[in-house]
Amino acid sequence: MLLHIPMVFSAPQAQALRTRLLAPDAPWVDGRATAGHQGAPVKHNRQIAEHSPLARELGDTVLAALERNPLFISAALPNHVYPPMFNRYAPGMDFGDHVDGAVRMVPGTTAKLRTDLSATLFLTPPEDYEGGELQILDSSQLRSIKLAAGDLILYPSTYVHRVEAVTRGERVSCFFWVQSLVRDAACRSLLFDMDRAIQRLGATNADAAARVQLTGCYHNLLRRWSET
Ligand code: NI
Repeated sequence: MLLHIPMVFSAPQAQALRTRLLAPDAPWVDGRATAGHQGAPVKHNRQIAEHSPLARELGDTVLAALERNPLFISAALPNHVYPPMFNRYAPGMDFGDHVDGAVRMVPGTTAKLRTDLSATLFLTPPEDYEGGELQILDSSQLRSIKLAAGDLILYPSTYVHRVEAVTRGERVSCFFWVQSLVRDAACRSLLFDMDRAIQRLGATNADAAARVQLTGCYHNLLRRWSET
């Protein structure tokens, strides 16, 4: 399942992040610094150095916004979120077909994170650049994703994906991975559907006892399926 989460940031908030990232003293490095054996030969972009104070400050801003986003929480059921990173693609830069590594060391710790979900948070308005689409092979269908500044796409880390070459302007984004409480994508998807239905029933003041029962089913399934 690919999920578009609109307005994690407003357009002005995305602009403010972009301004910080594109400041002359921002610590940009070769994107291959964090690529694995599969990704390195096809990865051509720049990233903010992941241990830099700027990466951590802006990463924390992103994490705080995600914690306030009910759609993200409901869909991802996050257990651990990898410290968000930031990249940019200038004309001629791209990232060829790859699958994200299954397990990553969390920087600065000895902890490992299993990548269940991958996320890209777009920070540049789409009219400011050409190319740069995130293309994701969803089952057998190729989906081309280019979102408004401040919008996020969440997708299973198991999918092959790539970033098309930018041909004009520059694409700045934030990206990160999520280890979900619910490892199995089908179980997670069922819980997401059930949660959305419960929210809708709550908004219509439907039978209160039935809603309690249904909410109980949600939590009891989450209890069966979650690992912490
Ligand atoms: Ni990737």
